[in-house]
Amino acid sequence: MDLSNKVAVVTGSARGIGRAISLKLAGAGADIVVNDIPSAAEALESTANEIRALKRKALAVTADVSSSPDVARLIDIAAKKMGSVDILVNNAGVTRDQIVMRMTDEDWDTVLNIDLKSAFLCARAALRHMIKRRWGRIVSIASVVGMMGNAGQANYAAAKAGIMGLTRSIAKEVGSRGITANAIAPGFIETKMTEQLDEKHRQILMQRIPLGSIGTPEDVAEAVAFLASEEAKYITGQVLGVDGGMSLG
Ligand SMILES: NC(=O)c1ccc[n+]([C@@H]2O[C@H](COP(=O)([O-])OP(=O)(O)OC[C@H]3O[C@@H](n4cnc5c(N)ncnc54)[C@H](O)[C@@H]3O)[C@@H](O)[C@H]2O)c1
Repeated sequence: MDLSNKVAVVTGSARGIGRAISLKLAGAGADIVVNDIPSAAEALESTANEIRALKRKALAVTADVSSSPDVARLIDIAAKKMGSVDILVNNAGVTRDQIVMRMTDEDWDTVLNIDLKSAFLCARAALRHMIKRRWGRIVSIASVVGMMGNAGQANYAAAKAGIMGLTRSIAKEVGSRGITANAIAPGFIETKMTEQLDEKHRQILMQRIPLGSIGTPEDVAEAVAFLASEEAKYITGQVLGVDGGMSLG
């Protein structure tokens, strides 16, 4: 896959899956705008330095992607300083787990804003640039939980299911302009988000994964790189499971 002369914006890329996606896209030749919240600025800069070590351009922009003005600034800086926004990867996400009866308004709003509204805000801003060039790729990171539901994660499951509806709608709106929109639904991936799971829950989850192992951030990054490439030009509005078969039930 050759992504040279493309500029990608990857949200939430100071660590975990976003970092792996940024490095994979850079390895395929893209220049990358990495983004994360201000408290992750140091880690974000080290992702940017790893990209530069691959001889690609990297720009680190701290911004809260659930904030409309922050997203406008992020995409504006990307377009002005890097020349365009060809690929958008909506990766930033958080969890605030709780059963519905105990879930606070704040738990709900935080997750819906960071995991779903952010993808709408980033896509709206990036599409203006993609439409001008009649080429674009939007890849959003959903979750198997968005398809299957999960006790204790109603906010997260709703946000991730929302990503799928948003993706299909964008695909229909801009397909005629050479722009595709797809989502990836990872299963259980080894990152900071999943490290707090105790051994008992890990074993229960492992029994539900036909391929018998936990996924890596790189497994997700490979799928993103494909969907971002020219080779995936006839694929849009899809949700690709990267879950070791977990969603088969
Ligand atoms: N790890 C898994 O098993 C798994 C499974 C399915 C889906 N996902 C999804 O993959 C994505 C990445 O998750 P991860 O496992 O790498 O988690 P992670 O917590 O390691 O990384 C998420 C990154 O997003 C950043 N972020 C949080 N709020 C932000 C905001 N408002 N603006 C900008 N950045 C923000 C965080 O600072 C962090 O660097 C998320 O959307 C997550 O829901 C993860």
